[in-house]
Amino acid sequence: MDLGLNGKRAIVTGGSRGIGKQCALALAREGVHVCIAARTQDTLNQALTEINQTGHKGHAVVGDLTLQANCEKVVQAMVARFGGVDILVNNVGAARNTDILELSPELIDDALGLKTYSCLRMSQLVIPFMKENRWGRIINIAGSAGTSPTRANVPTGAANITILNITRALSDAVSGDGILVNAVCPGLTNTGRARTQQRARAEREGCDVEELLQALGQELPAGRIAEPEEVANVVTFLASEACSYMFGTALYMDGGKRRSTP
Ligand SMILES: NC(=O)c1ccc[n+]([C@@H]2O[C@H](COP(=O)([O-])OP(=O)(O)OC[C@H]3O[C@@H](n4cnc5c(N)ncnc54)[C@H](OP(=O)(O)O)[C@@H]3O)[C@@H](O)[C@H]2O)c1
Repeated sequence: MDLGLNGKRAIVTGGSRGIGKQCALALAREGVHVCIAARTQDTLNQALTEINQTGHKGHAVVGDLTLQANCEKVVQAMVARFGGVDILVNNVGAARNTDILELSPELIDDALGLKTYSCLRMSQLVIPFMKENRWGRIINIAGSAGTSPTRANVPTGAANITILNITRALSDAVSGDGILVNAVCPGLTNTGRARTQQRARAEREGCDVEELLQALGQELPAGRIAEPEEVANVVTFLASEACSYMFGTALYMDGGKRRSTP
């Protein structure tokens, strides 16, 4: 299948590690010029080296994307370097979860402040460039916790369900301009974040976090948790010309965990 991505220009927020990094690499392998943004210079540099090794030059911008000024900096850098933006992957997110009976409202604010507000701001900033070309793709990484609340994951769930709301509303606002906005909802995925999230539980249960991740995977119809490359493959399709008739939808990649029909 020709994805029609060669020469396109993409921003991937939180593109230095985990799912974001694999999205950046998958897009770069298709010939996309990718700009990644995150807070830590070292990991950004490492990811940029790998992106450049695909043969298609990337760019990296350091900044905390909870701040509007840094969101603007990323888009300005992208436009200065590559002349515009065709694809935005809103991936950044790092909610801190605790049991609902001990949860402070600040943790919900933090989760929304990073994932949801950066998604909204970045989208608003890139849409004028996409409208100019009458072509654009915005892919929001939500998460299956948005529609599967548990007592332990309310900050993550609050951010993810809001991302799904934004996805639908934004899609309605820009579908007439040739811009497709869709979301991906991964389940537990093999990244540093998954380890950080599960460490406390592993300690409580007196097991190794790797053993816990394996056991959680075995409970799924898939028999294992997702790899970030698998999420990146779906994101790459949603970013492509081949994806031409999907508007405001959410694709679940949870290894078959979700019981309800879409
Ligand atoms: N892993 C899972 O099981 C899973 C499941 C469902 C959904 N998701 C979603 O997938 C997305 C990526 O998760 P992941 O597991 O790949 O996470 P990860 O491995 O922790 O990577 C997070 C990325 O975001 C960057 N980042 C974090 N805070 C930032 C901030 N304030 N400003 C700018 N960049 C920031 C990190 O770099 P710095 O720390 O250097 O800034 C890193 O590049 C998140 O939205 C998450 O909710 C993950």
